[in-house]
Amino acid sequence: MFSWSTTDRPIVALAPMAGVTDAAYRQLIKKLAPEVVVYSEFLSTDAIHYGAKKTMGMMNFDPELERPFIVQVFGKKPENFLSAAKIVEEMGADGIDINMGCPAARVTSSCHGSALMRDPELAAELVQATKEAVKIPVSVKTRLGWESPDQLISFCSKLVEAGADALAIHGRTYTQKYNGAANWDPIYELKKVISVPVIGNGDITSAQIAVDKLGNLDGVMIGRGTFGNPWIMKDVCEALKSSKLKVPSSNKLIPTIEKLSFEDKIPIILEHCELSVRLKGERRGMFEMRKHLASYVKGIDGAKELRARLVLVESVEDVKSILGHY
Ligand SMILES: Cc1cc2nc3c(=O)[nH]c(=O)nc-3n(C[C@H](O)[C@H](O)[C@H](O)COP(=O)(O)O)c2cc1C
Repeated sequence: MFSWSTTDRPIVALAPMAGVTDAAYRQLIKKLAPEVVVYSEFLSTDAIHYGAKKTMGMMNFDPELERPFIVQVFGKKPENFLSAAKIVEEMGADGIDINMGCPAARVTSSCHGSALMRDPELAAELVQATKEAVKIPVSVKTRLGWESPDQLISFCSKLVEAGADALAIHGRTYTQKYNGAANWDPIYELKKVISVPVIGNGDITSAQIAVDKLGNLDGVMIGRGTFGNPWIMKDVCEALKSSKLKVPSSNKLIPTIEKLSFEDKIPIILEHCELSVRLKGERRGMFEMRKHLASYVKGIDGAKELRARLVLVESVEDVKSILGHY
């Protein structure tokens, strides 16, 4: 059984991202970097409790290709966490993660996500209810705090007392949303006093940054840095492993993406499209691919014209023909 405390260090995790980390994205990342821990998009405990078809479908994963697979949930009713957690465990996930960091108004206004940082009692109750329901590990992903990091240690201590097995912290407050730079200092301070694994998150866009930021933490989590650059996960895994073994690196780590020509990237781009179509059907799968395709061509010569065509693709053949002409 997967365990946060015994899994290889440093942990490298793909951040949960709604609208991004579907099964196709996770499988692509796992193919390039098999060591990575992957998370689902965030899913409502209420929807899982009631068996909502779309949400249940979003929990599907390939047990051969996607482990360790963590299902992230949000909500505010302990009784629904209890039943949702049992369902998540029964469908074979390796862990369940509670979202206490989402800043979206539609989530916080109904007291889910980040809003739980203002209600530590309820937050702890949700962890406890989830722990009681399942044997798989229960983790929490949260932010530094609501307006400041002042309560981070007391909030997280409560979660650990309630049974949280690991914490992932995005180095921004709720009020910051995505503005300013992520501040990792309070995360290092938290790790000094907390007994469970702590994973840092925010603004990792290269292996060098991951090595520089890891500090005393158990791992790093990467989100937007993977957009158009799934190769970053392998770079980070290898760089953190070498730095742990104290293998000297003579020069700065060169990102794989800088060593690849655009032609070199095409097979992975097409594989991503094929996975998306296989898992979601052509219409939905290609619709979802459009944003990824825009990310893949970012920064290359003629990106603007390419993007204008790629955001209209309806089939893998369309992509092949556009990229084939490039
Ligand atoms: C498109 C998008 C969707 C996200 N969805 C989620 C989510 O479902 N659950 C969650 O905990 N965080 C979510 N996040 C936040 C990320 O997991 C991560 O904490 C944040 O992007 C900072 O990390 P980064 O700088 O590596 O991207 C999302 C972020 C983005 C950009």
